[in-house]
Amino acid sequence: MTDTLNTGAGLDAPAADIVAELTIEEKASLTSGASFWTTQGIERAGIPAIVLTDGPHGVRLQKGSADHLGIGDSVPATCFPPAVALGSTFDPELLERVGTALGEEARAEGVGVLLGPGVNIKRSPLCGRNFEYLSEDPIVSGVLGAALVNGLQSQGVGGSLKHFAANNQEHDRMSSSSDVDPRPLREIYLRGFQRVVEDAQPWTVMCSYNRLNGVYTSEDPWLLNTVLRDDWGFEGLVVSDWGAVNDRVIGLPAGLDLEMPSSDGRSAAALVAAVADGSLDESALDIGARRVVELVQKAVAGASDAAYDVDAHHALAREAAGRGAVLLKNDDAILPLDGATSVAVIGAFAEKPRYQGAGSSLINPTKLDNALDAITEYAGADHVSYAAGFTTDGSDGAALVAPAVELAASKDVVVLFLGLPGSYESEGFDREDLHLPAEQLALLEAVVAANPRTVVVLANGGVVELPFADDVPAILEGWLGGQAGGSAIADVLYGAVNPSGRLAETIPVKLADTPAYLNFPGDFGHVRYGEGLFVGYRWYDARDAEVRYPFGHGLSYTTFGYSDLSVAADASGLAVRVTVTNTGDRAGREVVQVYTGLAASGVQRAVREIKGFANVALEAGESRQVEIAVRGEDLAYWDVRVERWVVEPGAYSVEVGASSRDIRLSAVVEVEGEKVRLPLSLESSIAELAADPIAGPIVMQAMGSFASGMADTDIFDEGGLEKMMASFPIGKLAGFPGVPVTPEQIQQLIDLSNSQQA
Ligand code: BGC
Repeated sequence: MTDTLNTGAGLDAPAADIVAELTIEEKASLTSGASFWTTQGIERAGIPAIVLTDGPHGVRLQKGSADHLGIGDSVPATCFPPAVALGSTFDPELLERVGTALGEEARAEGVGVLLGPGVNIKRSPLCGRNFEYLSEDPIVSGVLGAALVNGLQSQGVGGSLKHFAANNQEHDRMSSSSDVDPRPLREIYLRGFQRVVEDAQPWTVMCSYNRLNGVYTSEDPWLLNTVLRDDWGFEGLVVSDWGAVNDRVIGLPAGLDLEMPSSDGRSAAALVAAVADGSLDESALDIGARRVVELVQKAVAGASDAAYDVDAHHALAREAAGRGAVLLKNDDAILPLDGATSVAVIGAFAEKPRYQGAGSSLINPTKLDNALDAITEYAGADHVSYAAGFTTDGSDGAALVAPAVELAASKDVVVLFLGLPGSYESEGFDREDLHLPAEQLALLEAVVAANPRTVVVLANGGVVELPFADDVPAILEGWLGGQAGGSAIADVLYGAVNPSGRLAETIPVKLADTPAYLNFPGDFGHVRYGEGLFVGYRWYDARDAEVRYPFGHGLSYTTFGYSDLSVAADASGLAVRVTVTNTGDRAGREVVQVYTGLAASGVQRAVREIKGFANVALEAGESRQVEIAVRGEDLAYWDVRVERWVVEPGAYSVEVGASSRDIRLSAVVEVEGEKVRLPLSLESSIAELAADPIAGPIVMQAMGSFASGMADTDIFDEGGLEKMMASFPIGKLAGFPGVPVTPEQIQQLIDLSNSQQA
């Protein structure tokens, strides 16, 4: 081994060549971090360290004391709206711009990888970290996640797609096993990750803390190698969540390239020892080290000290927050407000916004808008008065109620800001219920009694129950809107922004209605995903259950008409065309949603699943034909018998609408698909043989003569015999008295069919 690299090209040489010159110790050291946020550099080999930092909706770069829970200070950065609001925009173009801005900021701070986005499915509204996730649906999460990664990486900064995989709760997140059946795992929990990997090739994927079906994701070769790399073609590096490594020597060959943060050399020593005693093949070190070098190469190539425009990013954060706000209800067009209306602004969140969630994503914002100031700007100080009504820090706020109620009674309209205090939801723990604080609900009741013209504005990262929905004329769900969330809310209230946010998750009537209610958060280290495929709207629709507001819902200040639906199918998927018309009197955006279903399916299925959407801006009166492509692979289900995706042939329903419960047009399209034919065996049922093109006619004939002896019996009328016999294994039939076939004949039949199908 030489002292200096003989590649001659420094970091420009192929990574494998660089690694070939390293000692075992050096290779091992590369596969763990050097500190909280940096990788290990090797000076003699010209490999610098790079910085990875949170993420996802801002740059949380700590220059002083470091931690992974958002505790220590970080440099100022734009706090864009967290994923809960970004998801509600249903707008990949906007998310790509947010990603690009995140990339500019990360690059300006010398960050090589920004730790996000998070595309875990919102399985239960109780998950404390739902504010960091995009949707309860994998296609929505995948499309939007890919847009974020594409934007980020366009600036030479890597994304880190997290938390891979099935990390859908915070309770016992570092040890709990998510026990998920193959179909929901592939079709719901992995599908979004797959989409982002295939469409955006994130530089890194972050494995989660939890176990998946009993195996730590940080040491699961099936997940990290077979699925992620072999099936999906992932070309990047897998990094551990901070502290997710269990056994480094098992994890490395399983596909976990980089451990973060540093383990003070312990992991490297264990890897070196394992190579020495033969329990680890050195090739695993070569692969892990090569991927680290490749990542460093990309980050170095992307580095630049170009500054970013703080004001422009704040404006983008405002645009995104306005676009993510969802107008849930607006009776009698009480919104938008007129600047001349006298307004009582009530609720402490109007002045002290709740705009981001706690934990590793906590950003130190460059600016912070509040709604009260922005409303005052729209309406003028003469028209706006404020009362806090409650406290947000848990202190006694009883004395604040009477002045708020008095103020409410004296104004034309009340805008009442309610929401979850910061201590209610966070990374690291889950919520126990979906309630707003009792004192806020009591305040609402008193305020509405004093002035029924009360518009409720919500600030919350996870959905809340809305028992008062019928008692107020309007509800605007503002989520956690990031640093410009306050002004964005005023933009929507006063109509400068026509609301176009849509629910990327269902708002249930009550917690007990939710799909995971009886299986969350599990016990004794296991959480069983008992609801299977029926996550989010799939559950409510399958059970025809009432919801407070359905998936995809969101109102506008204008109205939209749908016409001229046409659907064409070919091998690549469906081309869905529909004309959308802005039938109201102001410009606005509609989120056109395409759902498919297959009622006559041979497998369990949701009634409808969103497979595509388009975000369409239309002037008043404008009409446009919108084309939404549904990819063929998105129609596929995971066939557990053959362990691969299969598009079932049949007549698919294609529903186009403004929410999962507001379908405006529908069509049926014949999809050719693929009939899976499994080899027949003695265990095959009579129904399976009957459906077989070769064995079927022979079996039906034999069944006919067998049945003729029994035809007088009532229960065998109208196909009763066929139904009764359908599940009977063919191998067992021959032994029955009176059955006119021998075991040899059946075996011959099976062989004949299998040989012709081979
Ligand atoms: C979180 C990750 C985060 C990491 C680094 C972990 O606790 O789960 O999302 O990126 O810390 O802060």
